[in-house]
Amino acid sequence: MTMPRVFVTRVIAQEAVDKIAQVTEMEVWPEELPPPYGVLLEKARDAEGLLTLVSDKVDAALMDTAPKLKVISNMAVGYDNISVAEATKRHIAVSNTPEVLTETTADLTFALLMTVARRVVEADNYTRKGQWKTWGPKLLLGQDIHNATLGIIGLGRIGAEIAKRGRGFNMKVLYYDEIRRSEEEERQLSVEYIPDLAKLLSSADFVSVHVPLVPQTHHLIGTAEFALMKPTAIFINTSRGPMVDQRALYEALKSGQIFAAAIDVTEIEPISPDDPLLTLDNIIITPHIASASFTTRKNMALMAAENLLAGLRGETPPNCVNPEALRG
Ligand code: DGY
Repeated sequence: MTMPRVFVTRVIAQEAVDKIAQVTEMEVWPEELPPPYGVLLEKARDAEGLLTLVSDKVDAALMDTAPKLKVISNMAVGYDNISVAEATKRHIAVSNTPEVLTETTADLTFALLMTVARRVVEADNYTRKGQWKTWGPKLLLGQDIHNATLGIIGLGRIGAEIAKRGRGFNMKVLYYDEIRRSEEEERQLSVEYIPDLAKLLSSADFVSVHVPLVPQTHHLIGTAEFALMKPTAIFINTSRGPMVDQRALYEALKSGQIFAAAIDVTEIEPISPDDPLLTLDNIIITPHIASASFTTRKNMALMAAENLLAGLRGETPPNCVNPEALRG
């Protein structure tokens, strides 16, 4: 019996590779950099399954060259790299890896929040450069985290975990979302709903964005939004880069309109080494590592493998984002 062909676009946890290898004819792209689009096209041609990452673009043109494709299993909770509507039209299941990375992503978000508020990266650089001469009453002053107001945009799974971490620091937690949580959930999370984004932006000391990237959230935060924030405000983004107008972020940080920012994602990834943001001291930029813990990346890979194998068997993958693709 011939086994289905699958292409895995990067080296992932061995446990997941082993599972897939047992029942498929698998090829794993061995490089650190993603397969170029042309290579992905070529590999997809005979594939019944693809296991992809956020850096792999899977569009209609690619699907057109892959007549046998049944499932695209993305090893990420976000799937804006895949044209899901096009996949649905072609009866291809698309899946993601929710839940397993929620707390790890929230941990990194809070780590960035604390690091930038207390200027830890700047302070470390200061020490390394031999600039530490004495205890200075005004040396590297930052913003308090405890008792501050945290404004969360998007109180989904990750946003709710940020709220819990904020409460642990005695923060007042506000949130804005298209969909309001029930009173019971708001009470449990000790969060206050703010129906107006502008009000949240002007009230918060820390603003953290946790919404999916869709056309409506592109540049959700730009010049007008930064203008509403306090001059002491800190902006955090660990969701998707295009949510923020990066030029406007640069201007807000440069002019002192806001105090600082920390971002794990950029409009174009990787960010160009010549990007003006990298000339500023009041921003930390990490290379899209919010889910990067050993345990979480293994669990993401195992979940992606399960989704892939279910799709190959013709079942709806457990974390299918377009179950309608397989109906009818
Ligand atoms: C996700 O899961 O969407 C992350 O951005 C990649 O870890």
